[in-house]
Amino acid sequence: MPVTTCIFDAYGTLFDVAAAARIAAGEPGNEALAAHWPALAETWRRKQLEYSWLRAVQGDHCSFWKVTEDGLDWAMEAQGLAGSGLRQRLLDLYWQLPAYPEVPALLRTLQDRGLNTAILSNGSPEMLTAAAKSAGIEALLDDLLSVEEVGIFKPAAPVYELVCQRFGGSPAHVLFVSSNGWDAAAASAYGFHSVWVNRSGLPMDRLTGQPQTVLDTLEPIADLEVF
Ligand code: LAC
Repeated sequence: MPVTTCIFDAYGTLFDVAAAARIAAGEPGNEALAAHWPALAETWRRKQLEYSWLRAVQGDHCSFWKVTEDGLDWAMEAQGLAGSGLRQRLLDLYWQLPAYPEVPALLRTLQDRGLNTAILSNGSPEMLTAAAKSAGIEALLDDLLSVEEVGIFKPAAPVYELVCQRFGGSPAHVLFVSSNGWDAAAASAYGFHSVWVNRSGLPMDRLTGQPQTVLDTLEPIADLEVF
């Protein structure tokens, strides 16, 4: 069944989530981060996601911005960086994450072929609008779909349902792309053709649903045989 709609996860898939810590580490006065930034970025991301899953299980939804702040506070304390004055700078940088280099050309190719293109993300509408604008890819996306419409984080099924509600058609017409193995697995279980962009060479997640395609960058997506 030919794909008509291409849906992208946001953080880690289109936007480089490690960039906030990496950029801050290179700024004058932030020498404390020079040795710590990779571990800080990794721990921040892991706690942000853990908090999103725990809140979904507990039925205690909040904005993705809240779990982003909470994850950073936990990570900074774990790295011995609490109270270092870096907190606000790191949070500010999260609103202006760069897109990975291959993103604009890929989105343009998909759009030129007449496909629907959109983000489906845990991020709040405000976070997604700011990120897409600052990365210069706003005009290359037909919509920015946020979990805020359903009030629960991924990988809850109502999140994936937002795609067919917005664009119509059946899940089999949707190509879903995520760098998060668990997100790609859930999207496949939901019925999308799912692509896992395994940027870090991680093992396959042991979950219900497996991505149909595994890549290490977004670049080859335009050449997949699903179109
Ligand atoms: C998102 C997170 C999971 O954008 O990366 O939804």
